[in-house]
Amino acid sequence: MDAAPGQVSTTDGAGPWYRSVAHEREVFRAAAGARLPVLLKGPTGCGKTRFVEAMAHELGRELVTVVCNEETSAVDLLGRHLVVGGDTVWQDGPAVRAVRTGAMLYLDELVDARADVLTVVHPLADHRRELFVDRLREVVRAAPGFQLVASCNPGYSMAGKELKPSLRHRFVTVSFDWPDAAVEAEIVAAEGGVEPKVAKRLVGFAAKVRALPELALPETVSTRLLVSAAQLIAGGLPPRLACRCAIVEPLADDSDVIGALGDAVDLAF
Ligand SMILES: Nc1ncnc2c1ncn2[C@@H]1O[C@H](COP(=O)(O)OP(=O)(O)OP(=O)(O)O)[C@@H](O)[C@H]1O
Ligand SMILES: [Mg+2]
Repeated sequence: MDAAPGQVSTTDGAGPWYRSVAHEREVFRAAAGARLPVLLKGPTGCGKTRFVEAMAHELGRELVTVVCNEETSAVDLLGRHLVVGGDTVWQDGPAVRAVRTGAMLYLDELVDARADVLTVVHPLADHRRELFVDRLREVVRAAPGFQLVASCNPGYSMAGKELKPSLRHRFVTVSFDWPDAAVEAEIVAAEGGVEPKVAKRLVGFAAKVRALPELALPETVSTRLLVSAAQLIAGGLPPRLACRCAIVEPLADDSDVIGALGDAVDLAF
């Protein structure tokens, strides 16, 4: 991991396009107004990251993202001493930077992080809104705009881990599901650059596959996969080939499952 993990995106320009699916915008705004942290839960490719990017832009906050994995530790969030030209200098980690500057801190896949990350997140996620940086012996209180956001995918996480109730209870939680067909077709058309009728066919295909639990896919057809297929189609690839490469193969390795998915593609196109 880098000495200073945490990707910073600025909020200039028109901002990312996010199509509301339910009440997620209102809930997020209310939570931000009440200075409560937000947990986004939902399957891969359902729009969680795009939503956070859009909300950061709409609320005028810098977005600091940390994609957590099983090696992400408290030090990665808080910061560390670096040796620069013979001197030792302190470098704030992404959580400390976000807290000091009043940014939006997005802990993507928080459940995958190491247990000591909880010691950082707990005091940040309740009324204290502060961090204790033990190596500096400093308590850093959150600047007014600071907003904590985390995401998790209940259907899939490394090593089947779950967030502890003591952590979950600190977050206002927004659950994401696949949008209604008409809304998802709008997203696929806009993001994929295809005609509405092509988007509708892709979404119809997704609905069929999502209704087939017997395929036992670890994750089902996501909006992301539909957008990728649409982008290939918009670039001139025949729809069946586009679906095969952008949807079927990323979803499965088993030849029977690939066959069943291919049949569903053939029915759609
Ligand atoms: N409501 C939406 N509005 C606009 N685009 C969307 C929406 N939902 C999904 N998308 C499209 O789906 C893509 C994938 O979404 P995103 O990266 O936000 O998923 P995610 O839930 O963060 O997935 P992961 O859990 O794998 O990180 C986006 O890049 C965008 O093209
Ligand atoms: Mg994401």
